[in-house]
Amino acid sequence: MHWKDKSFMEKFSTIYDSWLELVLQSKHVNPTINAKIAHEIKNPLAIIRSTLQLIESQIPTVKSNKHWGSLYGEIDFINTLIKDFTVLNQSFKIDKQQVDVCGIIEILAHQFEPICKEKNIFLYTSIPKNLPHVDGDQLRLREAFVNIIKNAFEACKAKDTISIIIKRLDNYIIITFTDTGTGIEKDKIDTIYDHFVTYKENGTGLGLAIVKAIIEQHKGSIEVTSEVDYGTSFIVYLPIIAH
Ligand SMILES: Nc1ncnc2c1ncn2[C@@H]1O[C@H](COP(=O)(O)OP(=O)(O)OP(=O)(O)O)[C@@H](O)[C@H]1O
Ligand SMILES: [Mg+2]
Repeated sequence: MHWKDKSFMEKFSTIYDSWLELVLQSKHVNPTINAKIAHEIKNPLAIIRSTLQLIESQIPTVKSNKHWGSLYGEIDFINTLIKDFTVLNQSFKIDKQQVDVCGIIEILAHQFEPICKEKNIFLYTSIPKNLPHVDGDQLRLREAFVNIIKNAFEACKAKDTISIIIKRLDNYIIITFTDTGTGIEKDKIDTIYDHFVTYKENGTGLGLAIVKAIIEQHKGSIEVTSEVDYGTSFIVYLPIIAH
């Protein structure tokens, strides 16, 4: 069946529902099938998005409808969810190369500068020179770090501090993300890596599940320590390439 067929579109929601169910038992799903389903769902979404753009160019007044903009938002949200699911199911292709973790953090710190200014949060980094590279996927590692930093920003208020400290210990690169934000309550801390566990009004609860999946794909590990009202530290251990 092709995605352009009307019948495919009609079955879209049924397929999506059963897929979600499968993904939630992700350990038992064939990653290749999962990746294919993700691909098939993305196709009609792309059609819906470009159709909206076409309607917009033909009937410009439609943009003034208060619900119009949110349609794009919903489509983009489904696309993000699909991407997240493929990560959680480990059905993404790890594109291994020599990755300069320090370089990724330097660029991210630079990219987060405007948010720091806007929220009046101090971002401190300690990045040593000449650390060895890790064997990994640059984009995925970046995605993991972004999720950790994003959480830190969401937990902080004005005048709080976020620090990112990189060190080497034996055969590991250790990246410690510390914030002086809200902290995590003791009874919640064991649940934060679970899928769909969120304590935020608009969270999806997939951020840390994705972080864990990515770090584990790199044969690394992640630890958290936190105290309410004092802040939180996430420590990521990534193995260095064995030369
Ligand atoms: N740095 C932090 N400070 C305080 N709480 C945190 C921090 N990082 C994570 N948490 C807690 O862990 C929960 C799960 O985080 P996770 O990133 O998985 O989901 P989320 O941030 O709620 O939603 P999203 O899917 O948008 O990332 C958060 O809801 C929050 O309660
Ligand atoms: Mg998050």
